[in-house]
Amino acid sequence: MGIQAKVYLVGAGPGDPDLLTVKALRLLQTADTLVYDRLVSREILELIPETVSRIFVGKASSRHTLSQQEINALLVELARKRPGVVRLKGGDPFIFGRGGEEALALARNNIPFEVVPGITAAQACAAYAGIPLTHRGLARGVQFITGHRKDNEALVIDPASVADPDQTLVVYMGLANLPLIVSDLLNAGRAADTPAAMVERGTTSRQRNIVTTIGHLQETVERYAIQSPAMLIIGPVVSLAEELNWFMPWAQEMELKYA
Ligand SMILES: C[S@@+](CC[C@H](N)C(=O)[O-])C[C@H]1O[C@@H](n2cnc3c(N)ncnc32)[C@H](O)[C@@H]1O
Repeated sequence: MGIQAKVYLVGAGPGDPDLLTVKALRLLQTADTLVYDRLVSREILELIPETVSRIFVGKASSRHTLSQQEINALLVELARKRPGVVRLKGGDPFIFGRGGEEALALARNNIPFEVVPGITAAQACAAYAGIPLTHRGLARGVQFITGHRKDNEALVIDPASVADPDQTLVVYMGLANLPLIVSDLLNAGRAADTPAAMVERGTTSRQRNIVTTIGHLQETVERYAIQSPAMLIIGPVVSLAEELNWFMPWAQEMELKYA
């Protein structure tokens, strides 16, 4: 079936092309125009036929190639001119991906669209680091939050919402504000010896994990020079990583250690 005249907001998943959905792959191979940003992996871009026109709209958190408003306007404009526009976003479009804003822009301009969910980085990084996000006896729930802070906001994390020690916490965009996040967590009552992991470039061949505690997180991240994109996972479930590290067993000694 060929692509319809609508805009598809498609999740590309966390990086490993095998984690694309069948629907995402079909749309990528039949698109007329692809609009994508920095988090979409090279391996996924290689699956797209050369006949598909590609528009890169950038977005590193501090160095936007196009503003979000410009991206919204571009999608509306392309939808009026092109038969099948795929807006490809890292992970899931509706989880810290501003896909909701893009969908609203389309809806408000009466442009038909579909949303294709992707595997979000929290789930994928946890799975590829051997960390079950919930586990009987260790975590009764999981919370996805952002560590990104607007310039005028003092706190990164709301203490009341992160205090529960039986809840796993997964922090997107946590690297830049790590010292603030650590102090927010300690002030919220999370123990300094709570296990904490950072997963860099999860699911790709360049994935690295560090497993430590909240108290040693900052120094361990610095020692291993962890770079973005990286996912922070906090809670007792992280203690299972050493035993369940199925993806990179060879990296156990070098990068997977308690500090
Ligand atoms: C703007 S958010 C986009 C999240 C995306 N919509 C999703 O559902 O995964 C970008 C953040 O996601 C996390 N992230 C995305 N891909 C990642 C990966 N492969 N490994 C580790 N973290 C990743 C990082 O924390 C990064 O700063």
